[in-house]
Amino acid sequence: MEVIILGDDLLRQKAEPVKPINAATAKLAEEMIETMHQSKGVGLAAPQVGIMKRLFVIHVDDDIPRVFINPSIVATSQETVKQEEGCLSIPRVWAEVIRPESVRVQAWNEKGRPFTIETGGMLARVILHEYDHLEGTLFIDRLPELKRQKVIAKFEKKQQA
Ligand code: NI
Repeated sequence: MEVIILGDDLLRQKAEPVKPINAATAKLAEEMIETMHQSKGVGLAAPQVGIMKRLFVIHVDDDIPRVFINPSIVATSQETVKQEEGCLSIPRVWAEVIRPESVRVQAWNEKGRPFTIETGGMLARVILHEYDHLEGTLFIDRLPELKRQKVIAKFEKKQQA
């Protein structure tokens, strides 16, 4: 699978619910996990591979690969954390992004089983980042305007290099 990058309109569109969750969904999730690993990413959302469905995969250190289908953010902490973030669709640039420290999410896995996860730290950050992709939002949108312009300029420069 090919990961699309900043400038592609698909990254700016809202993804549609996965319905039904079936063998094709499981295969898609599996292929996305493979693509995420090959790209050395910790998360990948379906719109990033040009599939406008509400599904993302995550694999952070010391954890298992996780599949989130039709996720809802049920709650986020008042407490926020500022930490460096990158995105496979905005390669070779990073910036500090402020996000809630912890999150509670309800979703379905690739077997069609519902689950709820309450987590903090890196996993929470990646969940919120990937969820944003389903809404057509990128991490650069969460930066102050000046910082956002700088990061885009850096990205464009590196794309030309
Ligand atoms: Ni991303």
